[in-house]
Amino acid sequence: MTTVKVMYSAEELADRVENLASEIAAKVSGNLTVIGVLKGSFVFLADLVRALDKAGLPCHVEFLRLSSYGSKQKASGDVVLIGDYPDVNDDRTVLLVDDIVDTGNSLTYAVKLLKASGRERIMTCTLLDKPSRREADIEVDFVGFTIPDEFVVGYGIDYAEDYRSLPYLGMVEKVD
Ligand code: IMP
Ligand code: MG
Repeated sequence: MTTVKVMYSAEELADRVENLASEIAAKVSGNLTVIGVLKGSFVFLADLVRALDKAGLPCHVEFLRLSSYGSKQKASGDVVLIGDYPDVNDDRTVLLVDDIVDTGNSLTYAVKLLKASGRERIMTCTLLDKPSRREADIEVDFVGFTIPDEFVVGYGIDYAEDYRSLPYLGMVEKVD
């Protein structure tokens, strides 16, 4: 049987997202397009854009979907875009939003993709950062929580598509 141990409650997540939005609003000016990396960022992104609006930074919202070859335990580093390219006007600052930066390969690929299409002002944001697992040379601009190398679920984040709907963030534990 598996249980989920709470790492951050719904209230703790809400508090941090609100603070993070204030940090972003203090650094970003002008027109902003937030691009969520699907699927894991969808709950975080929904809360973040409303907190940004509250902090005085309304934004446009786009999504992109990436796929990485190989199993997640042993990431190969090969990432590809699946589906449509996000629609961003030239004059806008981009904030790429992901759920977790682990090896960093996914976010590095997404930044490269946007740069290749001529976007110059690209900032990055992740709810969770696992710096101990980093392979790619990427510094994330805005980080919600820095966490150890634990497998987490909830608040949009899945384990084999389960647990995305949990309102809190937790760790899956096997119990007898
Ligand atoms: P990476 O930074 O390219 O290695 O990949 C980050 C992606 O791997 C995240 O956006 C998640 O989709 C997934 N991932 C990494 N760690 C976890 C975890 O602990 N739980 C669930 N998904 C994870
Ligand atoms: Mg992801």
